[in-house]
Amino acid sequence: MVSDGSSHPASKCDRVALLFDLDGVLTDTSELHYLSWKGLADELGLPFDRSANDALRGLGRRESLALVLGERSDRFPEQKKVEMAARKNAAYLERVARMTPADLLPGVRALMQGLRERGALVAVASSSKNSEAVVDRLGVHDLLDALVDGNDAPRSKPDPQVFLLAAERLGVSPRRCVVVEDAASGVAAARAARMKVVGVGPPERVSAADRTVATVAELTPDMLLALVEP
Ligand code: BG6
Ligand code: MG
Repeated sequence: MVSDGSSHPASKCDRVALLFDLDGVLTDTSELHYLSWKGLADELGLPFDRSANDALRGLGRRESLALVLGERSDRFPEQKKVEMAARKNAAYLERVARMTPADLLPGVRALMQGLRERGALVAVASSSKNSEAVVDRLGVHDLLDALVDGNDAPRSKPDPQVFLLAAERLGVSPRRCVVVEDAASGVAAARAARMKVVGVGPPERVSAADRTVATVAELTPDMLLALVEP
């Protein structure tokens, strides 16, 4: 990583910051999450399909577990739920270990490079607690000014905490931040942080964004930077 933002002065700088969600924006981990949750759901005899998995997009691990368990969630003691979340995560990390830089979605590296060449700051801002591991596998640490995730910001999206913390670490005012998100909860979090937001994916999922695109490959530095007032 280029820096963790700690060298920036406390006063807000006038640079623009691009805050990229990780899962579903830089890489598509939804199938890896699906297979890992499905393993747990099968063990417990609970129904779980890809559409149920899609509803977990952007939500933290514990919030996701509550949805996987559904109305049975309250019947399990806390310790049991901690174990379940850990089991799912171990299965997920085994799959993450097999990721390579080829799993970076098309256009991402060139987009980040282009943004940095134009003087913008680039960060990952994710609800995941596995961001470091995923970013390592993708090989994009060199393009990041900061990485802020569920380890730093315990309140999962749609809470704006992770985006506000990323802006603070970069020393940039929220009004000079543009978020790129694939989840409805992430778009809501960006709006709650009073940041501009581009939604990636089907309009019914990300229509609350300032602008939507079907895939990350459609994004250009100019398009993103134009969202912030000069
Ligand atoms: C989000 C994903 O980025 O991270 C969710 O969209 C996932 O699907 C969440 O549940 C938490 O991830 P992790 O890696 O901490 O279990
Ligand atoms: Mg996402």
